[in-house]
Amino acid sequence: MVATASAQAGEQGWSSRTAFILAAVGAAVGLGNIWRFPTLAGENGGGAFVLVYLVCVLLIGLPLMLSEFVVGRAGQSDAIGSVQRVADESRVSRRWSIFGGIEILAGFLILSFYSVVAGWVLYYIWLSGGDFFGNLFAGEALRGAFSDLGQDAVSGMMGDLFASPGRLILVHALFMTATIAIVASGVHDGIEKAATWLMPAFFFLLLGITIYGAFTGDFGRAVTFMFTPDFSKLTAPVMNEALGQAFFSLSLASGALITYGAYVARDVNLAPTAATISLADTAVALIAGLMIFPIVFAVGLDPSVGPALIFQSLPVAFQTMPGGSLIGLLFFVLIFFAALTSSISLLEGPTAWAIDRFGLRRPAAAVMLGLGAFVIGIACALGYNVWADVRPLGFWDIFADADILDTIDGFTGKLMLPLAGLLMSIFVGWKADRRLVEVQTGLSGGLFVLWRFLVAWLCPIAVALILLFGLFPQLL
Ligand code: PFF
Repeated sequence: MVATASAQAGEQGWSSRTAFILAAVGAAVGLGNIWRFPTLAGENGGGAFVLVYLVCVLLIGLPLMLSEFVVGRAGQSDAIGSVQRVADESRVSRRWSIFGGIEILAGFLILSFYSVVAGWVLYYIWLSGGDFFGNLFAGEALRGAFSDLGQDAVSGMMGDLFASPGRLILVHALFMTATIAIVASGVHDGIEKAATWLMPAFFFLLLGITIYGAFTGDFGRAVTFMFTPDFSKLTAPVMNEALGQAFFSLSLASGALITYGAYVARDVNLAPTAATISLADTAVALIAGLMIFPIVFAVGLDPSVGPALIFQSLPVAFQTMPGGSLIGLLFFVLIFFAALTSSISLLEGPTAWAIDRFGLRRPAAAVMLGLGAFVIGIACALGYNVWADVRPLGFWDIFADADILDTIDGFTGKLMLPLAGLLMSIFVGWKADRRLVEVQTGLSGGLFVLWRFLVAWLCPIAVALILLFGLFPQLL
């Protein structure tokens, strides 16, 4: 018998609604919340970006998340197979599954660079762990981080890492191995177990460090920075960036949520579940901002430094803060937990597809696809040293300055995810059988009408416009 994802769902889907929520929140909460969101908010002027982001999450992200779960649970298969089944039942062309294909490919590409960045996190756990335990054994556990080094040496750590292809590839390999091992262990014994242990630990650390930052950092300035919108900053590329970030952070259009939806029991009400997951993800992004910016401002650092924000700026901040050495270590452990529960969802989408499509065994599928993403990730890592001059899409003005990692990140986030989301909203809003969709959502009356309006009208139009003007700003 061919091992389909649906057959696995029968044997080993989520064991409860809570397990599903934890796994899906685990998929959503990750580097996107703690690394990408503060970085983009910092680069794009703070409040205005945050505002557009919130609107995108509420009006586009949440309705689309419910759409993904609907397609997955109705289709009982991977991201392509599920769309095909819903298309069959709705008597429309199976070609609509193209968006499922874009999703799986996007998930695979995101995994490749995601693991590289998560590797940096592992490297910083190693560095801060050495520093903290050194202090502990010296009887000075509450010292600042790297307090015997100068500021330049600390901010130079990232440069040292980036200059070394060997170190970058090693930590990338470690992280990818952990991801593959969990996915190979199965939905119930791997993914669900990881989420039920790691997510509670994550929330505990997040609150702890935020409270620490509120007392020791410049909280007021962080709040002003994040919540006072400067509308002159609202350009089409900023809106495209915010929309892409909403997709990325909610794990939309990347194969993960359709696949996770296929493992959900029939009696789970999907609409409130999607709302809970979106809310939790958004809360974590905002709290992460309120955790990071007070610390950044307290020591007079620049919030708009880009991807180096949490790796270069924060360790400098931790140097002068009481207990900074411990907090620094916990901070990177926190990000590692969040990243791992996301990377497993990124690998699960392509893995479920390979199991369904080719009848592969789960471990074989997870290893092959994980290795494939690992190889692409190596190119991203080399883009910081040996291939530092390579600009893969240098001919396209919005990607002109982007190195290999930034190109894959930008291409998936700004283009592939919104495109797949656009096609999905047309499919769910217009093509899929209305009755089938309604039953799956669990919504009725006015709420169903509102949701359908958002999916059928607002999402396609808004996403199409943002895509067009974001990718071709000269048209404006
Ligand atoms: N949502 C994750 C984050 O914010 O880090 C990243 C992600 C996971 C994107 C899973 C897409 C996905 F399918």
